[in-house]
Amino acid sequence: MPSKLTLTLAITGASGAALARAALARLHADEQVGRVDLVASPHGLRVMREELQLGEGRLDQLAERLLGGPAPKILVHDDRDIGANIASGSYPSQGMIVLPCSMGTCAAIAHGLADSLIERAADVCLKEKRRLLLAIRETPLHRIHLRNLLAADEAGATIYPVMPAFYDGAASAEAMAQQFAARLLSHFGLSAPDMFQWQG
Ligand SMILES: Cc1cc2nc3c(=O)[nH]c(=O)nc-3n(C[C@H](O)[C@H](O)[C@H](O)COP(=O)(O)O)c2cc1C
Repeated sequence: MPSKLTLTLAITGASGAALARAALARLHADEQVGRVDLVASPHGLRVMREELQLGEGRLDQLAERLLGGPAPKILVHDDRDIGANIASGSYPSQGMIVLPCSMGTCAAIAHGLADSLIERAADVCLKEKRRLLLAIRETPLHRIHLRNLLAADEAGATIYPVMPAFYDGAASAEAMAQQFAARLLSHFGLSAPDMFQWQG
């Protein structure tokens, strides 16, 4: 096992861009993480403009624009670049998070479409038996959503709905986003000192 983790963060066009930014900031700051491959779908970028007031700018500077400063270990990919490193199982990566994950992307992953870079990178995670977290967000869910969630789970993904906890004392939406991101990243063995732990 490599001493530092290489992880992919994919941002799609579901609501919850602030959660993606919180997770990205934690990955950026975490010394246990050596490299982050970041990819956003066109609709993900659209929702970031809506929810984070993210202005127009260069795609390759997406991480800097989200974090407000240099982000040397984060490599941004174009979702159309099906030849990017993360499209191949030979690229050493320990897993992928789709946060937030739209029901459209969930459907594509559940059915192995692998048409965009996000879909292909997720497909690679499943075939290589690497951890894949789908932070889906939609409500209510209809039967096709439910079937796709089951299919994705059966293929090896972890369905991790955007459902923040209400028992951790988070006093603001930002604190709630931070706790959600910390808990999600703990699934990759990343420990954060500020993550709430229920003591019983
Ligand atoms: C402001 C906004 C919020 C949206 N929220 C959701 C959502 O929570 N869940 C969802 O599945 N789709 C949501 N959508 C619709 C998706 O963006 C749309 O289905 C898109 O095709 C998803 O494409 P992608 O998965 O390639 O990003 C939202 C769209 C907009 C503009």
